[in-house]
Amino acid sequence: MKKQSIAVFASGTGTNALRIIDHFRAAEDIAVELLVCNKADAPVVEKVRERGIEVIVMDNEAFESGLTLLQELDYRAVDWIVLAGFLRKIPVNIIRGYHNRIINIHPSLLPKFGGKGMYGMHVHRAVIEAREKQTGISIHFVNEEFDKGELLAQYTVDLEDADTPEEVARKVQELEHRYFPYIVEQVIKQQTP
Ligand code: GRF
Repeated sequence: MKKQSIAVFASGTGTNALRIIDHFRAAEDIAVELLVCNKADAPVVEKVRERGIEVIVMDNEAFESGLTLLQELDYRAVDWIVLAGFLRKIPVNIIRGYHNRIINIHPSLLPKFGGKGMYGMHVHRAVIEAREKQTGISIHFVNEEFDKGELLAQYTVDLEDADTPEEVARKVQELEHRYFPYIVEQVIKQQTP
């Protein structure tokens, strides 16, 4: 397999971004080469720099045009984009340029609790309000319709009546850390000759 290069996009704490970086550290044919972040003071920025990986911080205006970013990705020959808690909508030219090469994780069982405004604790609160017995994670390709790209994998976890949003978040995060890097690896390997 030709060596594959990943750019991880993240906006906040970056626990998933770090898991992915660490997962591929010893890999021979897949490497995380770049982190793209839209907030200079996001905790993920420092943590990723400490690991010796290049970080591009792009303000929202520059990001929205998509042009500079596409050039940056092109220049570094990035093959895959992994969205790990990235809170901006991906510009359409990037979605088209990376057709079936952008992988996102969503902290619910899509199509439930997806779409606009459904991120972070908003998702877990909505899950509790709907008295769901289970929740989970969805890993999917990104297309032009928000949270509606082809599903690649889902994992579920049982909920208890007494679960708080924080407890649901903890359960979901555990699934994310356990499965996301592994599914990213599987998808890249399946799709690369
Ligand atoms: C995760 O729950 C992910 O599903 C969502 O954003 C969160 C990011 O968390 N898209 P972290 O920054 O990786 O800790």
